[in-house]
Amino acid sequence: MRIVVAGGTGLLGREITRQFLAAGHEVAVLSRSPGAPHPGDSQAIWLRGDVTEPASLAGKLKGADVVVDAVQFPNSPIEDPKKGRTFERFDLGGTKNLADACRAQGAGQFIGLSGVGAAENARFHWQRFKWQEEQHVAASGLAYMMFRPSWIYGPNDVSLNRFLGFARFLPFVPVIGDGKTRINPLFVGDLAAHVVAAVGNQAALGRVFEIGGPEVLTMDEIVRTALRVSGKRRFLLHQPASFMKLIASLIQHAPGRPLTPGAIDFITMDGIADTTALVETFGLPLTPLEQGLSTYLDDRAGNG
Ligand SMILES: NC(=O)c1ccc[n+]([C@@H]2O[C@H](COP(=O)([O-])OP(=O)(O)OC[C@H]3O[C@@H](n4cnc5c(N)ncnc54)[C@H](OP(=O)(O)O)[C@@H]3O)[C@@H](O)[C@H]2O)c1
Repeated sequence: MRIVVAGGTGLLGREITRQFLAAGHEVAVLSRSPGAPHPGDSQAIWLRGDVTEPASLAGKLKGADVVVDAVQFPNSPIEDPKKGRTFERFDLGGTKNLADACRAQGAGQFIGLSGVGAAENARFHWQRFKWQEEQHVAASGLAYMMFRPSWIYGPNDVSLNRFLGFARFLPFVPVIGDGKTRINPLFVGDLAAHVVAAVGNQAALGRVFEIGGPEVLTMDEIVRTALRVSGKRRFLLHQPASFMKLIASLIQHAPGRPLTPGAIDFITMDGIADTTALVETFGLPLTPLEQGLSTYLDDRAGNG
């Protein structure tokens, strides 16, 4: 089959691409980049396209049996309206453009990545745009399915690896908020395995599945587990979310836009996926955090 992975250079997209290639499919990565940024990606075909520019998608999806939408704006969740980096423009607008191009070019199946908490009247605008994105795809007439992932970790993530980065040179690890945010962290390999298994899966067509890991943990438990697996002992230094939002409101206009108050809300919101329907439909394993982390952090496993 010919699979197009839009955002195939990202955290989720790269693993999805890798697993589709390993399963013997022909994979094309749709990216703003003209060619493979990493040598390991060279097996894939490269298509240059920008989901915010519908004209750039012309002809790119012709002959695709499956199109996966794994796009997100650079530096998410730090929105930057001046640079056009907003959830509205990407999660809603970008997905609309991609789904519309799929339909116009006769692509076979659309697999979308929404997010846990997506709802019409959700508290945060990014959750409402994810819900609107789902609605657009459902009404598009495409054969589709969507996943709503919880928080995802893996060898190339920028969140859990940031905590570990602090641990390399500080005697403590800074944690924004009280550390009690509740999440069922999902291993990126499990997300990709479900995306691959969704292809041609009649029981999954036209449905939206929440997907998360098998354990509900607090952010403190997640960071402590990562420290333990990587053989480090550090204490966690909490910074109150309200204080960090005040700092963010001051520095959000600094060059490079290092933080925004919205990003603090994003980082500290609960995100628990109910996996009942997912497990019933796919029956695939979901990896516990310690096991997932030990595949790439544990020195004893030969990971350096
Ligand atoms: N990470 C999580 O924990 C998580 C949790 C729930 C849901 N999700 C959802 O999963 C999806 C993928 O997230 P991710 O974390 O993998 O994102 P990511 O690592 O930031 O990667 C996003 C990719 O989007 C591509 N991209 C950016 N702007 C683009 C544009 N204008 N046109 C085409 N491609 C563009 C980038 O590729 P190029 O730079 O090569 O163009 C980048 O590789 C998103 O919808 C996200 O909301 C993620």
